[in-house]
Amino acid sequence: MSLLAPGRNIVLVGLMGAGKTTVGRLVAAQLGRRFLDTDDEIEADAGRAISEIFAAEGERGFRRHEAAAVRRVSALRGQVIAVGGGAVLDPSNVTALRATGDLVLLDAEPAELAARVRDPGSRPLLAEAEDLTARLAELRAVRDPAYASVSHVIDTSRLSPDEVAAEVVAWARTRPGLLDREELRP
Ligand code: S3P
Repeated sequence: MSLLAPGRNIVLVGLMGAGKTTVGRLVAAQLGRRFLDTDDEIEADAGRAISEIFAAEGERGFRRHEAAAVRRVSALRGQVIAVGGGAVLDPSNVTALRATGDLVLLDAEPAELAARVRDPGSRPLLAEAEDLTARLAELRAVRDPAYASVSHVIDTSRLSPDEVAAEVVAWARTRPGLLDREELRP
């Protein structure tokens, strides 16, 4: 990352199980960027696990922590950022993220997301679900309008994380100002 003219942030959005963290780390490694995950930021800042925050403060309390984490990461440049699946529900989060970054939606069919979600018990919005696929389909339907404001959508259903990361980087190369001059070198 060039210190003089850093590129904009690459922001990965999508439902739980979409592969934001895995793909984000791969993209960051390829570009030599730092990878940030708002869930990790929230846990580090609060000194508690996401599930503990939900238990103590409810989803509304968690969303306040999330909005603060979004503000902090949006103040940076030249990062690869994964945001929690529900972060896009608050339009002011989307505005903050778009001010310094371009949003990419990692999409997949609910059944595929359900197969990929590791440890659903640690995710408060899935913990009670009897049918993980149905729950993810429900969340996807509610969030679809919020996901409409992204710059690029990748259907990850039939792609490996390496293939998705390669597509993110190829797309980023076409977006003016997203990558810095060093990153754009062939
Ligand atoms: C949430 C997604 C989770 C985490 C929290 C709520 C959501 O992040 O922020 O459990 O509302 O979809 P991941 O999408 O990174 O799993």
